[in-house]
Amino acid sequence: MAGKLSPSMMCVNYLQLETSIRALERAGADYLHFDIMDGHFVPNFTLGPDFIRCIRELASIPFDYHFMVERPENLLSVFDIRPGDMVSVHQEASVHLQRTLQRIRELGARPSVAINPGTPILSVEEVLDDIDAVLLMTVNPGFAGQKLIPSTLRKISALRRHLADRGYDRIEIEVDGNVSWEHASAMRRAGADIFVAGTSSIFRKDEDIEALANRLREVIA
Ligand code: DX5
Ligand code: ZN
Repeated sequence: MAGKLSPSMMCVNYLQLETSIRALERAGADYLHFDIMDGHFVPNFTLGPDFIRCIRELASIPFDYHFMVERPENLLSVFDIRPGDMVSVHQEASVHLQRTLQRIRELGARPSVAINPGTPILSVEEVLDDIDAVLLMTVNPGFAGQKLIPSTLRKISALRRHLADRGYDRIEIEVDGNVSWEHASAMRRAGADIFVAGTSSIFRKDEDIEALANRLREVIA
């Protein structure tokens, strides 16, 4: 199966929101990735529930929520989560991780656990039955435009092997952070399935989003 494309909406030019979403639809984006930050788990703020709700009016693509917040279980209900959306919560931030994932499943969405570059893949071991994906951060979360942490490439292949050995081939691996053309191709070879596209690939000043998104889709095909 071809790799999936999940454009990072914190990187879009907000003054060209609607035309950018149309371009992403034409390019066949599989998800729209929304980074939600609380100023505690990561030292930044980004997109809030009202803004994301507005985008739902414009877009027909499922959403890919990435909660970079402490205690995501307390915030899920504030957001418009619909069947078919992907919802990632950080392993490091959720005390009752299994319950949170179960709640996401009850909403009809696809539960996923996100882990930071320094968090071992074994930290998702006990929730493999509860998830559809693991989101591997390939930079430290919080900011666009950072450089890839090289060891995370090995982590992708290690996780892919680990899942296969345990009979969890159905679990997708999502990669987030400095997914450039070059890195995307290496990540694909290592076993990644969903690619968060930001400033490293499709969101570049004065360049055509549709053409760049199509190019990225070819790289991850
Ligand atoms: C954080 C974000 C960033 C970013 C991706 O979770 O999803 O990783 O927007 O885009 P880059 O790293 O290419 O700027
Ligand atoms: Zn993200």
